[in-house]
Amino acid sequence: MAPGLVDPAPVTEVRPVQVKSTKSSSSNALNYVPGRTIVEKYDDTYQYEELRGRFPDVKWDPLEEHEYHDKGLLGDPSFKNLLSSATDIFDFNPKIGTEVHGVDLANLTDAQKNDLARLIATRGVVFFRKQKNFDIDAQRELGQYFGRLHSHATTQLPRREGLEDVHVVWAGEDSPDLRAMFTPSFLWHSDVTYEVQPPSYTSLKVLTGPPRGGGGDTLWSSQYAAYDQLSAPMQKYLEGLTAIHSAELQAQGSRDLGRPVRREPVTTEHPLIRTNPVTGWKSLFFNPGFVTKIVGIPKTESDHIISYLNEIVSTSPELHVRFQWGKDDVAFWDNRVTNHSASYGFAPHRRHAVRVCCQAERPYLDPNSRSQEEDLAERYSIPKANKDGSGIVNYND
Ligand code: SIN
Repeated sequence: MAPGLVDPAPVTEVRPVQVKSTKSSSSNALNYVPGRTIVEKYDDTYQYEELRGRFPDVKWDPLEEHEYHDKGLLGDPSFKNLLSSATDIFDFNPKIGTEVHGVDLANLTDAQKNDLARLIATRGVVFFRKQKNFDIDAQRELGQYFGRLHSHATTQLPRREGLEDVHVVWAGEDSPDLRAMFTPSFLWHSDVTYEVQPPSYTSLKVLTGPPRGGGGDTLWSSQYAAYDQLSAPMQKYLEGLTAIHSAELQAQGSRDLGRPVRREPVTTEHPLIRTNPVTGWKSLFFNPGFVTKIVGIPKTESDHIISYLNEIVSTSPELHVRFQWGKDDVAFWDNRVTNHSASYGFAPHRRHAVRVCCQAERPYLDPNSRSQEEDLAERYSIPKANKDGSGIVNYND
């Protein structure tokens, strides 16, 4: 969820609306009207009532530092266990995003889970369609296999007790339009990076959402590729810097709405470039939502670096993958190496999703690590991108 952005709970129960999908392709074509939203009422009982949100007024202790053992390190480099049952696998682009078909996330062996972790760390985000069996208990169980689950200090928890480590995403029929409050670039974020041990493997399952073409897509931006986009002098400069990630803004957003802050907000200094332990690749570790300052440089310079990195993360299409959700689709991403952004503009449809993530290692930079582009260029003889006006051209209009 975007920093400082608190999902509003509907005040009154309004019967929600939903687009009916047309089954036959010929009638689809005949009835097509660009941008038309066909709506109908939901049934009286909502299937996922127990996963709707609540804001309990409770207090939690600070998170404790703990050892993290990355399961991705146990994964097979060719992902052969995970992919043994796959019927299709394809990348969205060379830098980020892969979709896998034919794998049931609710029934993975440990070897497949390890491969999954490795694939997520490698590709940034991996998508699985129609995961009906992967209910909230299975989602938590897989998350727990990867590490200690993170409980969010301010966002909505499910109504069902015992799911305090599940984050509820909800936009309903009477949710306010947040475009007046948040710019699109501010929506880009990596989850809870203000924690001392920010998350790695994170899953989001959409339970109810707009129909195809109704909006509500999510976008991810690769921080491996962001690092590779920088010039060599800029890479070196940023490698020597750290950034402040703060939870204060998010906490204040909750307080302003009269909602509880369950754990005291923390502020943490992290390296601006970090190494992923599974791939050994360097990535930018910047978060448009939570980074408030670059440490040890004048404020003007810090502000300009923040604005420059915001632009790289949020406006470079080749870093991005955009996913159009269907019912029961699941995305798994590595929060260490990606930012993500929900998109506005899907009213009047209901959008309800549940997110589970585990905490990872404290971020570090291994100065001897390499970048994604260096590694892949060497392994597959791919020419490196042209950053200085010489060499190959990879865009021409
Ligand atoms: C999130 O920010 O974790 C959720 C993204 C989304 O709702 O698409």
